[in-house]
Amino acid sequence: MHIRFLASPINPADINQIEGVYPLRPTFTKELGVLPDGEHKELAVGGNEGVAEVIAVGDQIEDLKVGDWVVMGRSGFGTWRTHAAATPNDVTRIDKGIGSLQAATLTVNACTAFRMLKDFATLKEGDFVIQNGANSGVGQAVIQIAHAWNIKTINIVRNRPEIEDLKARLKSLGATYIVTDEELGCYKTKDLIKEWTNINDNNVGIKLGLNCVGGKISTEMAKYLCRSGYHVTYGAMSRQPITIPASLLIFKDIKFLGYWMSRWYQYHSKEERSEMMNEIIGLIRQGKLGDVAHDEVTWGSSNENDESLKIKLLDALDKSYTGFHGKKQILQFQL
Ligand SMILES: NC(=O)c1ccc[n+]([C@@H]2O[C@H](COP(=O)([O-])OP(=O)(O)OC[C@H]3O[C@@H](n4cnc5c(N)ncnc54)[C@H](OP(=O)(O)O)[C@@H]3O)[C@@H](O)[C@H]2O)c1
Repeated sequence: MHIRFLASPINPADINQIEGVYPLRPTFTKELGVLPDGEHKELAVGGNEGVAEVIAVGDQIEDLKVGDWVVMGRSGFGTWRTHAAATPNDVTRIDKGIGSLQAATLTVNACTAFRMLKDFATLKEGDFVIQNGANSGVGQAVIQIAHAWNIKTINIVRNRPEIEDLKARLKSLGATYIVTDEELGCYKTKDLIKEWTNINDNNVGIKLGLNCVGGKISTEMAKYLCRSGYHVTYGAMSRQPITIPASLLIFKDIKFLGYWMSRWYQYHSKEERSEMMNEIIGLIRQGKLGDVAHDEVTWGSSNENDESLKIKLLDALDKSYTGFHGKKQILQFQL
């Protein structure tokens, strides 16, 4: 089967994979051709997420046809490319009817947010979730899915000169409250959070904390969780370790756990994936889950040569890697 990529994001994990610090390796093969200096060695294509259109299928393939849209069914496929040969096991068909940019960011960020809200604490309407890195792609999906399910969110972001713009943007997505990392530890914010959540009563309070960042802010966030609450780490953007005060383990019985979407995909069937994606696509169609803030990096217009494409890719990688940029870089293929 041959596929043509429509759009592929640059995610932090893709960069970690290139750095060699991610547990999953990309697929190395000699079939990608010969280097300009003539060396023929195994190469890999970067990128783990994206949406593609099926442009040709072999006789043996029954459940996919030309024109279908597919997302990646496994990590490490290599999505920063215009075309690829794939097998049905590499991909999952999705219903059309959503934009290519939304489809391109479905399998990692939206699914991670969806699972973390479903699979740890039993959340009911009116309950609270607290998260750091709330303006990340995952964080924005958490805000919107929680809002759609009538779950309230307390969202921690790093302070910056244009903080009011960021707060307004997250509010418009459905964020209930937004605090900065600097505000989180101060008495005024502590009182406010108590007031918002009835934290004095150990039967209520905040049941779930989502940690994208690590370091000091993740410890601070854990202190707001209710007894037997869940502190779920899914990212480590600060590259700092997490320190856990013994009192949170002994007296509050906080459960410190990790979440990895790739592991979920490994142990769940194609049917379970489709069920999850259909539910998320339903939210997108209802206008409850919108595009992540992004820059469109157009790829393949006729007036671009290899050198200009290289500069464009390096610039997009740079923006993805640098903090405070605030926009996901999404390659949009025009071939
Ligand atoms: N476990 C999983 O299955 C899973 C799935 C998806 C993503 N992730 C992980 O989740 C994290 C976010 O991914 P994403 O795609 O949502 O990212 P993203 O959209 O690129 O956003 C990056 C986030 O990290 C923050 N950040 C960057 N550098 C930072 C630093 N030095 N200290 C504190 N915050 C920093 C940014 O905030 P500023 O605006 O303040 O810079 C932003 O909120 C990554 O670590 C990624 O690997 C894990």
